[in-house]
Amino acid sequence: MPAVTSHLPWTPDSVRVKQVEEQVTALRSSVICAFNQLLDLKDLNTGVHSTRLAEWGMRVGQELGLEEAELQSLEVAALLHDIGKVGIPDAILRKPGRLDPDEYALMKKHPEYGWAVLRMLPGFERAALDILHHHENFDGKGYPAGLRGLEIPVVSRIVSVIDAFDAMVSSRPYRVGLPHEEAVRRLIESSGTQFDPAVVQCFISFAQAEMAMVFAAAGTSVSSAL
Ligand SMILES: [Fe+2]
Repeated sequence: MPAVTSHLPWTPDSVRVKQVEEQVTALRSSVICAFNQLLDLKDLNTGVHSTRLAEWGMRVGQELGLEEAELQSLEVAALLHDIGKVGIPDAILRKPGRLDPDEYALMKKHPEYGWAVLRMLPGFERAALDILHHHENFDGKGYPAGLRGLEIPVVSRIVSVIDAFDAMVSSRPYRVGLPHEEAVRRLIESSGTQFDPAVVQCFISFAQAEMAMVFAAAGTSVSSAL
């Protein structure tokens, strides 16, 4: 009589499946960490706010009811959306003044570069697409595809808000970041044109309450940013 225990939850088969799932999760985390280090090497992480912003992005995703696969993609996209900037020359990335039209055209390639890299990794295909569209605008005037409204993947719409907020509040060698109150005001101002209003509303509904504490701890309180 064949063994019947092979279908029970504690059999070697189910243990093996669990082990493989854990390995996949660990590999996924390692890839995120490795690419994050690459961003650090190129000085492309905007500082201590980035991780907190990624966490806020995940909370937006949860509150908007994203499914598990979308949340997994959001975790990757929130941290690695600008990985394609590794392919942009430093002279453009670090240019203190305004970019000329050719330079700006090259800078706008970074979502495609990021997509081209991440889509090579099994399990990161969805995140690659979300990264490809993180500079689309809600009114259809963004890039690279000019998608509009709900045509834009929801993860990309969330990352768009996080990315813009991060860019506004972060200081650069040639300029001081905006106070977070002003950055929130600009998010609301561009709600419906650049940003998905539902995402902006959700983001500021809880993030605003924690901003003063987070930014004071990071040494960029309102007073020091002015
Ligand atoms: Fe970007």
